[in-house]
Amino acid sequence: MEDKMVSGFSRWTKEEKIDWLSQSYLDQDHEAKDILKQYWNADPKLQGLHDDFIENALSNYYLPFGVAPNFLIDGQTYVLPMVTEESSVVAAASNAAKFWSDKGGFNTKVLGTQKSGQVHLQYRGSTEDLTSFFIENKQNLIASLDAIQANMKKRGGGLVSLELQDLSDRLDGYYQLHATFETGDAMGANFINSCLEQLATQLERLATVDGRFEAHTPKVVMSILSNYVPDCRVVARVSCPVESLAQAGVNGRRFAEDFVTAVNMAKENVHRAVTHNKGIMNGIDAVIVATGNDFRAIEAGMHAYAAKDGQYRSLTTAWIDRENNFHFELDAPLALGTVGGLTKLHPLVGVSMKILNHPNAEQLMRQVAVAGLAQNFAAVRSLVTTGIQKGHMKMHLLNILNQLGADEQEKGAAIKHFENETVSHSSVSNYIDTLRS
Ligand code: MEV
Repeated sequence: MEDKMVSGFSRWTKEEKIDWLSQSYLDQDHEAKDILKQYWNADPKLQGLHDDFIENALSNYYLPFGVAPNFLIDGQTYVLPMVTEESSVVAAASNAAKFWSDKGGFNTKVLGTQKSGQVHLQYRGSTEDLTSFFIENKQNLIASLDAIQANMKKRGGGLVSLELQDLSDRLDGYYQLHATFETGDAMGANFINSCLEQLATQLERLATVDGRFEAHTPKVVMSILSNYVPDCRVVARVSCPVESLAQAGVNGRRFAEDFVTAVNMAKENVHRAVTHNKGIMNGIDAVIVATGNDFRAIEAGMHAYAAKDGQYRSLTTAWIDRENNFHFELDAPLALGTVGGLTKLHPLVGVSMKILNHPNAEQLMRQVAVAGLAQNFAAVRSLVTTGIQKGHMKMHLLNILNQLGADEQEKGAAIKHFENETVSHSSVSNYIDTLRS
């Protein structure tokens, strides 16, 4: 293994890196080398842009960029851009969009846009001393942010509150400065982290010369924003009379009751809840990636919110009211940005923003939440009616045909043949064999 170690790697050219990788790890596999190069963009400027996103970039990794049309959201029609590798996701979203388009569409409400960050402290002195120090110096701490906040304040954002929190009952000596922020149309990670690091520096500066802390000075362990954003939330809902849910061969009331039961199961059972929420994330992540937002942050925040009362539960809720109306709702913590980050850099993100009619952060929150609700509706609808495999394998058929090297004529024939047949790898393979013989 020793001889496969490398130093100064990041300074090598892309060609040198690929050659070294090929020699050391790919057994001089020319096909692998060719594939890496095949995915370079012909335009060197565009390729350079992508190379600069990360260190040691060797190539580009394509994912399909698709669109789901016919989303009626708060009375306006939208097309949602989606980036995903999962065959059935865009089809399911489009299906759900169409289904709700003549039933009032999706309605949304933003419940808040605040984000938070913490300066995590270790302190073993008296709580009273730290509290009085904080109260006396709070304005000074806030004033130390003036330069960093100037631009954000012009855009209506900035620090909203700053509190000292005593967490020493959970971990000996654990205190924190808990700061909340508004960040306008930016996701705000850089802004928040810069503010927190400045607060940390100023706190240490003030504490070092404060007589209260001769024996025990508060020590900054770390300063970082939180991806847990329960106060940056949006609710998306669909509603209609239960009879309107009638579909080919499915009674509306029966469907509504089965649907509500399925969602309640996901509220109470972690095994079901995780998969149920994964289905929501199928829709959410696809729009998040298409719009250049941070899907890891969104995933972490959503799952933590799903477990906010100590048990991991479904993020959606369904019920039938006394007037026999069916309601289905997603409550989603979503800290999103429509300026900064990748939004100006990645040309396809620019296209997504145009498709979405240049949303601000709140509008994007609404659109993303709707993508999650629609996706969840489509999944649970299939689960309580036909089962998921029927639609899923239909969409997967093309992947199987591509694996088998089918040409356009074979694909056309197979798609027709499998309209009423069960799709599996072996059934498709047998069919193609028969065609070819
Ligand atoms: C598959 O990607 C997503 C589903 O499993 C979601 C669900 O079970 O609700 C179909």
